[in-house]
Amino acid sequence: MSIALAFDIYGTLIDPHGVVTELQNHIGDRAAEFSRVWREKQLEYTWRRSLMQRYRDFGVCTRQALDYADELLQTELDESAKNSLMQAYRVLPAYEDVPASLELLKNKGHRLYPFSNGTVDMVTAVLENAGIEHFFENVISVDSLQTFKPDPGVYHHVIQVTNVTAENCWLVSSNGFDVIGAVSAGMKAAWLKRFDGVVLDPWEFEPTQVIRSLGELPQVV
Ligand code: 2OP
Repeated sequence: MSIALAFDIYGTLIDPHGVVTELQNHIGDRAAEFSRVWREKQLEYTWRRSLMQRYRDFGVCTRQALDYADELLQTELDESAKNSLMQAYRVLPAYEDVPASLELLKNKGHRLYPFSNGTVDMVTAVLENAGIEHFFENVISVDSLQTFKPDPGVYHHVIQVTNVTAENCWLVSSNGFDVIGAVSAGMKAAWLKRFDGVVLDPWEFEPTQVIRSLGELPQVV
């Protein structure tokens, strides 16, 4: 019986706040606040574009969210600063617990897939730069469906592409909206609660498992 594990990328394997270091070069101690606004807007744009059926890829959502954050916080970043920040988005670090955990899971015979809002090109670049691409099968991107998480279609797509039963198809994600989307669409889901104080939306969907670090996953699946 084969098990497929579909890993969310940004926030789960890869730390999107890794851009803070690059931001600090441009705006000093406002970097953390900027990074938070940028990330929140980026996700908001994916949700709004899905609802409006006006798909533009995750790179566009990320760049437009960057422009928004710059305007809101009046940081006056020039074009070249914005370009280096977008470039930094392709070289974000993996969280510390990632390589060893992926190795254990792969050694158990599971098939591991990156599954992201990001395009195949963005996700491939970030995984290669973080040195973890060799653990994975092909990248599964929402881009092929022209919509974003948590549209149920993207989770059905994962079940179809991985070619296992829904029972054996897991999402692993730190993003609560992603976990709820997967469970609602019939997948299993491990919610990676990376930080204290993070709250899962009190809806009618529960994660199949809650883990506090990726290192706990090999005991679960
Ligand atoms: C991802 O799809 C939601 O950022 C998240 O990688």
